[in-house]
Amino acid sequence: MAIEFTLNGEERAFAGDPRTPLLDVLRDDCRLTSTKSVCRAGFCGACTVMIDGAPVPACQRPIGMLEGAEIVTIEGISPPEELNPVQRAFLEHDVVQCGMCFPGMVITLTDFLRRNDAPSRGEVKAALSGNMCRCTGYERIIDAVMSICAMDTQPVEAVSR
Ligand code: FES
Ligand code: FES
Repeated sequence: MAIEFTLNGEERAFAGDPRTPLLDVLRDDCRLTSTKSVCRAGFCGACTVMIDGAPVPACQRPIGMLEGAEIVTIEGISPPEELNPVQRAFLEHDVVQCGMCFPGMVITLTDFLRRNDAPSRGEVKAALSGNMCRCTGYERIIDAVMSICAMDTQPVEAVSR
């Protein structure tokens, strides 16, 4: 029996092995390859997506557990052709190098800024504790996040299409 779920606002179904990690369903079946596959063990955060409004490593969730879930990937975090504020700040602060970690970081930080729109640098650092970056110094990433918080407007709207 197919497992049904919502992906970036669209109804989807998966009829394969229910033990298949969500990460593989996203990349191989749905062809949404911006969710990165790195450690596949729940440590690096590169595969982080939103499941029912919370950031979760997609490599650690078998699709069989996700019947009826609402899943948002980096492709669905902002309207097509638009960047969300975290993506824009990363671009403006030139923090992206290989980029493997960034989709997961954007998901994590978007959720974090929805809950805390005036964080300290230490709080941003703690929020990123589950997202590893092997290339960029974390200070520039934190600078980018702090620049969003310095703006007058609400930093990050609810994650939806
Ligand atoms: S690939 Fe999932 S946490 Fe590293
Ligand atoms: S930019 Fe390469 S791992 Fe973060």
